[in-house]
Amino acid sequence: MYLEHWQLREKPFENTADPRFLFRSGAHEEALNRLLYAVREKKGAAMLSGVFGCGKTLMAETLKMELSSGGRYKTAFIFNPLLSNVEILREIVFQLGVRDHLPKEKTELLHVLGDLLLQNANDGKNTVVIIDEAHVIDERIIFEELRLLLNFQKQNMFLLTLLLIGQPELKEKVNQIKQLQQRIAVSYYLDRLNPEETRQYISHRVRTAGQNDPIFTPEAVQLVTEHSGGIPRRINHLCDLALMAGFGKGARTIDKDIVQDIAKDLEL
Ligand SMILES: Nc1ncnc2c1ncn2[C@@H]1O[C@H](COP(=O)(O)OP(=O)(O)OP(=O)(O)O)[C@@H](O)[C@H]1O
Ligand SMILES: [Mg+2]
Repeated sequence: MYLEHWQLREKPFENTADPRFLFRSGAHEEALNRLLYAVREKKGAAMLSGVFGCGKTLMAETLKMELSSGGRYKTAFIFNPLLSNVEILREIVFQLGVRDHLPKEKTELLHVLGDLLLQNANDGKNTVVIIDEAHVIDERIIFEELRLLLNFQKQNMFLLTLLLIGQPELKEKVNQIKQLQQRIAVSYYLDRLNPEETRQYISHRVRTAGQNDPIFTPEAVQLVTEHSGGIPRRINHLCDLALMAGFGKGARTIDKDIVQDIAKDLEL
């Protein structure tokens, strides 16, 4: 392991959606603000789409963390929506806290869910349902089921906020279902980082992992920018392998030759 060599507390470029490592680029900040706005203002539905590996799941995890403090929100987080419409309903009800005697029938599930939402509202709590990877949903009936959740209302206020998150196809799928598209009150498209943001991203993650001195030379950063296309998951992958290779060579910094070798290997 290279931690000791680079004097790091932990690995800076792990490909997990860990909010502690969040780098607040302008776009990530905006994405988070819009999702928070949708939730706080009880906007019904919101959508976050964007290229693979650009931080959508991290935004969802960060939002969930922000909502969990203060006890004002009840959140269901579905990260694998390849389920039938009834299974999705069951999963939502389960995650909202009903662990025993989960009904199997749809009508009963809807009754339990309706009661739960009302109970939450009466307790002064907002209910949030986050569906990550929503672009994998193929059947229209599932989107319909999700849309119908927005019919749970009290005095014209939505009893839950639905957040749909996924890759660019999600936007196309939603746009094809006009009734759903019209219900999306807030929407955002998360893009790749620009070169300056990529530079800041790398140094932010290194610092968060406990090393305040730069490890990557400016030329190395430039190459990471080119080979990653500004996609954080790719940046992580390249940088992690570069740290490993640099450690193997006993290097004091990561220069452009190390990054070049890694990039070449990855392309093979
Ligand atoms: N703003 C950011 N700050 C810190 N790390 C980030 C940021 N954006 C993305 N990452 C990191 O990049 C990796 C990929 O992010 P994430 O899994 O959230 O992408 P995604 O958009 O959900 O990808 P996919 O479309 O494949 O589901 C993760 O390790 C994540 O922590
Ligand atoms: Mg994701």
